[in-house]
Amino acid sequence: MPYTRITGLGHYVPEQVITNQYLSTLMDTTDEWITERTGIKERRWIDPAKDTVANMAAKAARMALERAGLKETDIEFIVFATITPDYFFPGSGVLLQRELGLEGIGALDIRNACSGFIYALSVADQYIRTGTYKTILVIGAEIQSTALDVTTRGRNTAVIFGDGAGAAIVQASARPGVLSTHLHADGRFAEELYVRDPGSSRPREERQPEQILDTTHYKVVMNGNQVFKHAIVRFSEAIEEALAANNLNINDLSLLIPHQANLRISQYIQQKMNLNNNQVYNNIMRYGNTTAASIPIAMSEAWAEGKIRENDVICLAAFGSGFTWASALIRW
Ligand code: UT7
Repeated sequence: MPYTRITGLGHYVPEQVITNQYLSTLMDTTDEWITERTGIKERRWIDPAKDTVANMAAKAARMALERAGLKETDIEFIVFATITPDYFFPGSGVLLQRELGLEGIGALDIRNACSGFIYALSVADQYIRTGTYKTILVIGAEIQSTALDVTTRGRNTAVIFGDGAGAAIVQASARPGVLSTHLHADGRFAEELYVRDPGSSRPREERQPEQILDTTHYKVVMNGNQVFKHAIVRFSEAIEEALAANNLNINDLSLLIPHQANLRISQYIQQKMNLNNNQVYNNIMRYGNTTAASIPIAMSEAWAEGKIRENDVICLAAFGSGFTWASALIRW
């Protein structure tokens, strides 16, 4: 049975840098508050005339292909994690397939928010292990900025989220790469972090354009305290579960790449698990929380900075809307 290895990583973030200072001109907030509560200094927001989820993903994918020494036509299947697709339907996978000129290959969308990339990697891993495909493109890409309420009413979410895309090429290999994935969810907390509409279970009148203009149901709603409390518990559980399943302990871990939700969450996990600064990768300071894109962007940057080396044990961990949480343990 083949194993799954990540053979190329890439990322793309929009050019437009949005500083905390700029946000303080839109809403009642300060650089000091945002830095202290989240660690974020700036994030990227798209220019709707230039960027789409699919074309950002294509740029990330091309970087990953180049680093893997492959060409577009080597890709046999696409797994695309996003909760912010360019259209309500069809999903982003088919739009990316079109961008890459790969008509005919299968394209699957995953909607598991911050855990989306790990869910997507897990799906790709199953296809590789069963021999269905040998080369799969796994994407996490999001445009959050256009769904944010950038007034003071929405400040607890507007300051956190950013846009971007990350890509991984995963391939069949004789030597282990992805050692395990663990996926979890608890739908009892679905409304703690969500965008309600365009939900289908509404009276027809509520889905008419004149009603839509009047509502906040198209904006991100988050109970930040509740999400934070669950996140710190589930992150730790996910990492411990991944290590235990592989008979490893925390000292075997070369690098933890957590979903970039809030620097305070990463620091809490680091302290609780006794990890040193070199064992945890953070780039939330520059990009904010890019939901499904955060892990592949962070992996791509960590790799480019020489922080992921052959034989390293890398742990990916995520928690977010759903609630969903997940881990992946990888021998590089
Ligand atoms: O991607 C995975 C999902 N997301 C997360 O993991 C996020 C988890 N949660 C968080 O990161 C934090 O809960 C937040 C950063 C969202 C909020 O930080 P907090 O320390 O939990 O603040 P809080 O919500 O308890 O609010 C404290 C105060 C409130 O004012 P009062 O009621 O004490 O007067 C808020 O109104 O801070 C106020 N506040 C702000 N002030 C300035 C909320 N947002 C802002 C803001 N600027 N942007």
